[in-house]
Amino acid sequence: MTEPPALGAGDRLDFANPLSADRADRMVARLAAARPSTVVDYGCGWGELLLRVLDRCPRARGTGLDVHGPDIERARRAARDRGLDGRVEFVEGSAADHRTPADAVISLGAYQAFGTTVEALEALAGRVKPGGRLLFGAEVWTVPPSPERLAHMWAGASTDDCVDLATLADQAVAAGFRLLRVETATLDEWDAFEFGLTEDVEEWLLANPTGPHAAGLRSELDGMHHRYLHGTRGVLGLAYLTLGRRG
Ligand SMILES: C[S@@+](CC[C@H](N)C(=O)[O-])C[C@H]1O[C@@H](n2cnc3c(N)ncnc32)[C@H](O)[C@@H]1O
Repeated sequence: MTEPPALGAGDRLDFANPLSADRADRMVARLAAARPSTVVDYGCGWGELLLRVLDRCPRARGTGLDVHGPDIERARRAARDRGLDGRVEFVEGSAADHRTPADAVISLGAYQAFGTTVEALEALAGRVKPGGRLLFGAEVWTVPPSPERLAHMWAGASTDDCVDLATLADQAVAAGFRLLRVETATLDEWDAFEFGLTEDVEEWLLANPTGPHAAGLRSELDGMHHRYLHGTRGVLGLAYLTLGRRG
């Protein structure tokens, strides 16, 4: 019997976020239009967005930071495969420890590295050079979560865990940014992300329905599907803000 794929590793995903290739291309083009020389991605995962920015900006140099070693390894392999390893460094470590300001800064689904969204936007403002750009992605409530839906989300989920889109945008402006583009992931992007995370393990279970790993994996998958379908789907959103800092 083969070993099961690692649950949650994202082997079938381009990004560890609900983000389509089309939206990623548009966001990358917006960052590239500001002609950055330096790009830093805080919580880069396996670095796909950073690599796409560097692909688009042949003179730029990049740094990606993430605490998850296997993702950093995947990022380094992808950089080598695409001939970008001479212009990018992937560092396994905490985002808060890196403070060198850059022309373009990315933080997608990883604001927790700096605390709350307000704390993250303030910390990131100090890491964007004057005239630079910040691409900031964070969870928001699409609609106010009912107690019934909250009860099916993560343990201890509460209304205070997120703000709505308008409040997040206000927080960005209060941190000194201007709003260049505000957009949110569609339900299709969410479905592709959530089921893209589990599909390889589901397929493995169909082919290997018994055995030592099967029952435990099935129960973990059931929990993930339940949290999404009964809890977060359509209630939890992902906002992508392209932000500018005054020159
Ligand atoms: C939702 S994933 C997003 C990854 C990537 N930005 C993307 O869009 O594909 C969040 C990432 O933040 C990383 N992370 C969490 N806390 C961190 C910290 N303190 N410093 C650096 N990375 C962190 C996680 O390991 C994870 O890879």
